Amino acid sequence: RIVYVNGAYHPEAEAKVSVFDRGFLFADAVYEVTAVIGGRLLDFPGHCARLRRSLAELDLPSPATDDEILAIHRELVARNALDLGHVYLTVTRGEADRDFAYPKAGTAPSLVMFTQARASIETPEAERGLRIASVPDLRWGRRDIKTVQLLYPSMAKMQAKRQGKDDAWFVENGEVTEGTSNNAYIVTREGTIRTRALGHDILHGITRAALMRVAGELDLRVEEKPFTVAEAQGAREAFITSAGAFVTPVVEIDGAAIGDGRPGPIARRLRAAYLETAI
Ligand code: PDD
Repeated sequence: RIVYVNGAYHPEAEAKVSVFDRGFLFADAVYEVTAVIGGRLLDFPGHCARLRRSLAELDLPSPATDDEILAIHRELVARNALDLGHVYLTVTRGEADRDFAYPKAGTAPSLVMFTQARASIETPEAERGLRIASVPDLRWGRRDIKTVQLLYPSMAKMQAKRQGKDDAWFVENGEVTEGTSNNAYIVTREGTIRTRALGHDILHGITRAALMRVAGELDLRVEEKPFTVAEAQGAREAFITSAGAFVTPVVEIDGAAIGDGRPGPIARRLRAAYLETAI
C-alpha cells in the first residue's frame, strides 16, 4: 500500500510520523473516512466541509486546500488500484515538545492519508441485520468534532462483542445518541424515520445528510427527535448509517428483537437507494 505523509507518497513500511506528534501524545487530531465504490469517492465535498469545521473548532491549522486534498485522495485511489474501500485522512497538530499548551503558531500540522480495501459492499452482519448492545455514553461533550479520541467507542464495541453482539449504541439521559461509529435511527410504528437532531452530542454524519435526501426522494417522513432503547425495541425497524456501513439494518437491541427480527423493508430500500446514488 502507498501512504501519503506530509507531501510525499511512501510504501506503507516507510510511512512515518514522529513519536512527538501531538496526534500520538494527545489525540490532538481530527480525521475523515470517505468511502470508495468503483474507484469513485462518495460524498467527498461533505467530508471536506466537515473536516474544515473540525479544524476550525480546534484551531488546527489547515494543511492543504480542498483541491489538494481531493487530488491526494484520487492519487492514492489510483496508486493503490482501490476499487472498493475507503480513504482515511488525519490532520494532527504536528510535532512539538510534550506540553499541554499548543505549540507556537507556525508549527506544521501533519497530514496523513491512506486507503483501506474491503472485499464486498455486503457483509454477513449487514445481510442478517446488526445486533446492538446499549452502553452508557461516556464520551466527551464535543462529539460533533471528528477527533481521533476513539478509545471509549473502541471499548464499547468490545463490550458489545463480548456479549456476542455486533456493535454498541450509546445512551445518555435515557436516550440513544448514536453508535460507536455511526448514526442511529428507528422507524416508528407510524412509519416515520426518527433520528436524534444535530448538536454537540453526536457526529454530524455525512451519510446522515445523504440519508435525509434519499428519504425525501422516496417520500419517507423523517423527524429529528431522540428515542429511548425501549422505543427502539418497540419500533418497526432500526438501522445505522456511516461511510463504512452505508445504511445497515439493526434487528436487535439489548436482546429484544426489533419488528420481526429481520432487516426491515424501509432500511433495505434506503440502503439500495443510497448505494444507487453512489454507483
Ligand atoms: N465513523 N457517528 C460517529 C461517532 C462516527 O464515528 C461516524 C463515522 C458516524 C457517521 O458519519 P459518516 O456518515 O460521516 O461516516 C457517526 C467513521 C466511518 C469511522 O470512524 O470509521
